[in-house]
Amino acid sequence: MISVNHVSKRYNKRDLVVKDVSFKVEKGTIFGLLGPNGAGKTTMMQMISTLLMPTTGVISICGLDTQASAQEIRKKIGFLTTEIKLDPLSTPNQLYSFFSELYDIPKEEVEARRQASFARFGIGPFADKRIVELSTGMKQKVSIVISLIHEPEVIIFDEPTNGLDILTSRQVMDYLLELRQKGCCVLLSTHIFSVAEQLCDEIAILVDGKIVDQGSAQALTEKTGSKNFEEAFFKLYSEYHREG
Ligand SMILES: Nc1ncnc2c1ncn2[C@@H]1O[C@H](COP(=O)(O)OP(=O)(O)OP(=O)(O)O)[C@@H](O)[C@H]1O
Ligand SMILES: [Mg+2]
Repeated sequence: MISVNHVSKRYNKRDLVVKDVSFKVEKGTIFGLLGPNGAGKTTMMQMISTLLMPTTGVISICGLDTQASAQEIRKKIGFLTTEIKLDPLSTPNQLYSFFSELYDIPKEEVEARRQASFARFGIGPFADKRIVELSTGMKQKVSIVISLIHEPEVIIFDEPTNGLDILTSRQVMDYLLELRQKGCCVLLSTHIFSVAEQLCDEIAILVDGKIVDQGSAQALTEKTGSKNFEEAFFKLYSEYHREG
């Protein structure tokens, strides 16, 4: 459903920050981009979500090219990024109503969907408070609910558990597993091993804009002769730097 083919990105005609990246994410699977700060995760996610264009290479989603069919793709994807902030003076209720209209959600369905998703993430008591008054975790949960308002089949989440405590992280992770179960195609980025290890069917390790290795957490752990996935990551990371 998501297909990334030999994609590179250069900022300012100078800095090459994504280097010949290719991977595929199938329906009903969770794929993770795991990498340190500055590896190019957000850049990659923004290209896949049609917000940035690749310098070279091709990305397609459900068979549609991101350069040719950006508008159509945006209706199919749920995108969460660390870069876009909710309007601080709106309330979760106002945002929910605004985005339901934007996405043409049938009027008779809006209330039931709002109640179900607010209940799921404990947003109810905060629904009429302004975003600026909410905690980091609550803002992130509102962002997640808004990004999935149109029940997209392709989910692209940049650092979804960023700033969340263990309990809230767990809620978000359980939700992503449920969406996979329903057949969604989920791409997430993270720098947290345990998130990648617990959620992802397949993990690409991104360092300096390049995929240095790819596979399930178990496969990467075995392949590198490591005692756990965290050790596998460090081995792959330092191997890359030795060679690089
Ligand atoms: N708009 C921009 N113009 C120029 N360079 C940029 C721009 N955005 C990001 N970069 C550079 O691209 C590289 C990759 O950044 P990116 O934000 O994609 O990394 P990341 O993996 O998401 O990092 P983090 O874990 O810190 O979020 C960094 O070196 C960054 O400085
Ligand atoms: Mg980032």
